[in-house]
Amino acid sequence: MIRFDPEQKSFHLRNSFVSYIFHAGATGRLHHLYWGAPLETFSPGRWALDPLREDLKPVRPRISEEVHPQEYSLWGCGDRRPGACSLRLADGSAAAELLYRGHEILEQPVYPPGLPAVRQDHELGAAEAVKVLLEDPRGDLRVELYYTLYEKSPVLLRWNRIINGSEGPILLRDPASAAPDLPPDAYDLLHLSGAWGRERHVRREPLSSGSFSIGSRSGASGHQFAPFLALCSPEAGENQGCLYAATLHYSGCFSASAAPDSFGGCRLSIGIGGLEAALSPGESFDTPAASLVWTAEGFNGMSRAFHSFLREGVLPREFRFRPRPVTINSWEAMYFDMDQEKILNLAAQGAAVGAELFVLDDGWFSRRVDDRSSLGDWWANPDRFPRGLGALAEKVRERGLAFGLWVEPEMISPDSELSRKHPDWALAIPGREAVTVRNQLVLDLSRREVRDYLFDCLRRVLEESAAVYLKWDMNRTMSEAGSPPLGRERQGETMHRYMLGLYELLGRVRRAFPQVMLEGCAGGGGRMDFGMAAFCPRFWASDQTDGVERLAIQYGSSYLFPPETLGAHVSAVPNHQVGRMVPGRSRALTALAFSYGYELNPAELSPEERSLFREFSQRHKEIRRGVLQGEFFRLEGGPSEGGRREGPAGSPRETAWIIRVAAGRELLLFCFRPFCRPNLLPSYLKLSAGLPEGPALYRETRTGELYSSSELRYKGVRVDRVKGDYQAFFRRFIREDEGT
Ligand code: GLA
Repeated sequence: MIRFDPEQKSFHLRNSFVSYIFHAGATGRLHHLYWGAPLETFSPGRWALDPLREDLKPVRPRISEEVHPQEYSLWGCGDRRPGACSLRLADGSAAAELLYRGHEILEQPVYPPGLPAVRQDHELGAAEAVKVLLEDPRGDLRVELYYTLYEKSPVLLRWNRIINGSEGPILLRDPASAAPDLPPDAYDLLHLSGAWGRERHVRREPLSSGSFSIGSRSGASGHQFAPFLALCSPEAGENQGCLYAATLHYSGCFSASAAPDSFGGCRLSIGIGGLEAALSPGESFDTPAASLVWTAEGFNGMSRAFHSFLREGVLPREFRFRPRPVTINSWEAMYFDMDQEKILNLAAQGAAVGAELFVLDDGWFSRRVDDRSSLGDWWANPDRFPRGLGALAEKVRERGLAFGLWVEPEMISPDSELSRKHPDWALAIPGREAVTVRNQLVLDLSRREVRDYLFDCLRRVLEESAAVYLKWDMNRTMSEAGSPPLGRERQGETMHRYMLGLYELLGRVRRAFPQVMLEGCAGGGGRMDFGMAAFCPRFWASDQTDGVERLAIQYGSSYLFPPETLGAHVSAVPNHQVGRMVPGRSRALTALAFSYGYELNPAELSPEERSLFREFSQRHKEIRRGVLQGEFFRLEGGPSEGGRREGPAGSPRETAWIIRVAAGRELLLFCFRPFCRPNLLPSYLKLSAGLPEGPALYRETRTGELYSSSELRYKGVRVDRVKGDYQAFFRRFIREDEGT
């Protein structure tokens, strides 16, 4: 519900999870007043600092805005904190301010055109939306702030339109999608950071003096930082404590920061990065959408809010209730060393261990036998597949598997037919030698003709192969990111126009092939964000497939993404990335609660391992509806506890997660203890999350033992000290006392 009080000029956005309140103060500035648990009533008169300063009201220049928590403030006219965007106005000055001019309660939510936000057929309940109009008193700039709150979600969706109201050109840099000032308090920062093969590790550190900022300038949201930043109370943990979190529905460069102010408050800002947009008079720029969450239920509370928002509002609806197929992917099984016979053998072997989908990875097209050529030439390699892609796919299907295909459409190899025909289709800055990464350049997706070409290629291969799955990869960062056809003035917009082009292309593919599941991939998890989630019900979370390394990656990824969206494949040992020898059972358990599959050649396994994996495929099929519909919780003690990896007497802490299915009718518990230590007693893993409220009785399916929910919660499940590293177990609990 959105309430506007004309006297106080206050806006109160409220549903059963949250209240978000701001008002136009005496000076006309928009002041942020409250974001937290839902409030019945409030009075800005009691809260705002303005009334105390009534006497100063008519005085211009006005009081410093420094004391006021702001809603969306610019730098330079009384506010010296980092502005919600930076500007170069037509007269060359950079200072501006925004004053309230009016608002409109919208009948329907409005989303930034051309950018992913919430799908039209969302299931988030009734939506309430408001547009607030702000204007610089000199008329240089107008800004429309958009807010949408849905009945069934704590997530507040924000974005802005920035309009050049002046007579000359304006340069606009990195406008935030949201930049509220949070109240004075002690805060810890929480972010998901890493690198290739180490994506989205949870990082937590105290916010002290000085701004903290993360972002990407690489043309993709990137491996280094997820486009996400949260501020939590120092006491917050998985299940308790307040936090404010923001994530961006955007897959390109971004910037997120926390800037403490002089009074203990902090500006939390998130938005596009690497942008310098040239706005001519009257022209506007739309920021990507950001999702904001406040919760008092700790990191699990935040994750549940994001998970359900993605499921009910963002991920393609066709796949909402569609179990993810058990997958076998050819990459680590054979890399580029493929032909029809090898592929069909792998497919048959995959089917024998229970796979349902075969994904033909890199190496199938044109003359591609290594990573030195052919990106852009999207037709089957005639030497490897003389009867074409259609015949190959048919043969895979005859072996009982659906057929899926890897593509990397955004790229071009200098050694390709496409590059010989269109040498000017790659991003480039004339006069600069383009840096190749993995021997490839990036196509200029801001150009219509490039997108048309790619769409035709994709349509052809999808029609020819009748593939039901497309792994959409993107394996290099951008450099020399210029687009000569855009002209001199607009070079600073290249990477954003690229993203708009990418979304347009993805949308076209989705509309033409709505039943084809897209898997988002960028050198593993290098572009995993809420922007791509609008097109991809599944992500390849990392190229790191080791059963232990994956724990931290999946743990951190689950802060934002629900488990069915995280591709997790069992790979061979020694692991190809780290050489570790994790037992097959533990590797399979690491993957089991996610979108499960294989990244190995079963022909190279022992008969025992093959039958073990067949059994695990079957287990996944039994639990995957629960994965898809259940609620995912991390148990206390995992990597989010500020790196505290040791328990009593130096015992290793477990990493554990639990899926609550059907409001607690069933619980799926996964526990991992990577390293064994000597001379320790058994420990007990307390189910600190996931249990239903009130008393309940559960039967553990393996032993048949009965547990009360209080025993599970307060004493825990016994974890015996088994010798050997990389131990893992899975327990399934079925509620016994339902209805009694
Ligand atoms: C990237 C992906 C891998 C694989 C290779 C193929 O690295 O993350 O899964 O598809 O490309 O070249």
